[in-house]
Amino acid sequence: MQTSVVDIQNIRADFPILKETVNGKRLVYLDNGATSQKPRQVIDAISNYYNSYNSNVHRGVHKLSQIATDAFEKSRLKLQEFINAKHNHELIITSGTTQSINLVAYSYGKGFIKPGDEVIITAMEHHSNIVPWQIMCEDRGAVLKVIPFNDKGELDMAAFKGLLTSKTKLISTVHVSNSLGTINPVEEIIALAHKNGTHVLLDGAQAVPHMAVDVQALDCDFYVFSGHKMFGPTGTGVLYGKEEILNAMPPYLGGGEMIETVTFEKTTYNSLPHKFEAGTPNIADVIGLGAACDYINAIGYDFIAQQEADLLAYAEEKMAGIEGIIPIGTAANKASVYSFIVEGIHPYDLGSIVDQMGIAVRTGHHCTQPVMACFKIPGTVRASFAFYNTKEEIDLLFEATKKAVSMLK
Ligand code: ALA
Repeated sequence: MQTSVVDIQNIRADFPILKETVNGKRLVYLDNGATSQKPRQVIDAISNYYNSYNSNVHRGVHKLSQIATDAFEKSRLKLQEFINAKHNHELIITSGTTQSINLVAYSYGKGFIKPGDEVIITAMEHHSNIVPWQIMCEDRGAVLKVIPFNDKGELDMAAFKGLLTSKTKLISTVHVSNSLGTINPVEEIIALAHKNGTHVLLDGAQAVPHMAVDVQALDCDFYVFSGHKMFGPTGTGVLYGKEEILNAMPPYLGGGEMIETVTFEKTTYNSLPHKFEAGTPNIADVIGLGAACDYINAIGYDFIAQQEADLLAYAEEKMAGIEGIIPIGTAANKASVYSFIVEGIHPYDLGSIVDQMGIAVRTGHHCTQPVMACFKIPGTVRASFAFYNTKEEIDLLFEATKKAVSMLK
C-alpha cells in the first residue's frame, strides 16, 4: 500500500496529544516502545463507560451492571479475535505483561516445576521476563539457563539447541526485543521446544503494536502483552494460555470472582478465565483496550508494517550521517526500534538535550541491564516508531542529535 501524506495526517488527527507542544516545540513522540499514544476512539470508550454506565461486572443483575459486563466481555472477544485464540476463556485479563508473566511464573511454577527442572530465557529479556523466573527457580529449586545473542542482537540458535535437555520444562522468550528491536525466530524456538516436550511463553509486549499475532498458528503455550503499548490504556494486559495448561495450573490471587463456593472448610474455584481474575478488574480500561483492537484492525497491519519499515530504513540511513554514531541492535529481522550510542557521549546527556528540543526518546538500559552488559555500554538512546510517526520527525531527531553531539563533544 502506498502511504500518502493525507493518510498520515488523518491518522495523526486521531491522536490528540500529537498536537501538544513540549518545551515550546511541537511534540515529536519517538518513545512508543515505552508506551504508545492513544487515539480519541480509545479515550472516548473509557469516558463513555464512566459517563454512561459505570458499574461493576459479573456481579449485579441490574441493568448498568449487565451493560458493563457485556462491554467488558466484548473486549475479551475482541482480544480473542485479535490474537486468534481458539477459546475466549483462554484470555486472562491482567494489568499488563509484568503481571501476566508473574502469574505464570508463580502458578505454573507451583503446578509444574520440581527441583532440578530447567527453565530457559534469553539474554535479551526485559527484567520482567527475568526476575519472576529467578524468584520461581529459587523457590522451586529449579535451574535458569540463558540463550546468548551475537553482536547484531540475534539469538544464538545453536547454543539454544545445546541448552535444551530432558529437564527443560519451559522456555520464556521475548517475541520482539524492546531495546534492540530484534524479531526472534519464535516459530523455530517453538518447534524445537515442543519436540523436546517443553512449553513456550512468548512475551509479545513489543510485537502486537507492530505485527499480526496468531497464537494458534504459532502454537505457543502462553502469549502475554500489554494494552498501553498497543494504543490502549495503561493497567491492562493479557495472558493467553492453552486451555488444558491453564486448567491444570493452580490459582494465583485469591478473592472474589475467582471462586465457585467458599466455606471455612474448603473453597472451590471458578472456571476459566475467572479462576485467574480475582477482584474487580480495570473495567473502563479493558473496554478501552477493546477499542484499541478495533482501531488497529481499522488501520490494518499491512499499513502499519509498511509505514514502520519505511521509517526504520529512513532513520538508519539518515542517522548514519552523524559522526561517531553506533547503532545497537542490527538484526536482519527487526521491528521499528532504532537504538544508538555516540562515541564518547553518555546516552543520558544526549537524551536530555534532545528532550529540550521537544523530542521524546528513551535513554538508559530500557529495563534490559543484561543487554547493556553484553554490549559493555551503560545504555542507549532509543527512538521507537509507531505508524503515526513521519520522516519529518526523524529529520528533527537527526538535527537535534547533531546539535547535541556538537554541544557535548
Ligand atoms: N519496557 C518498556 C520500554 O521498553 C517500558 O521502554
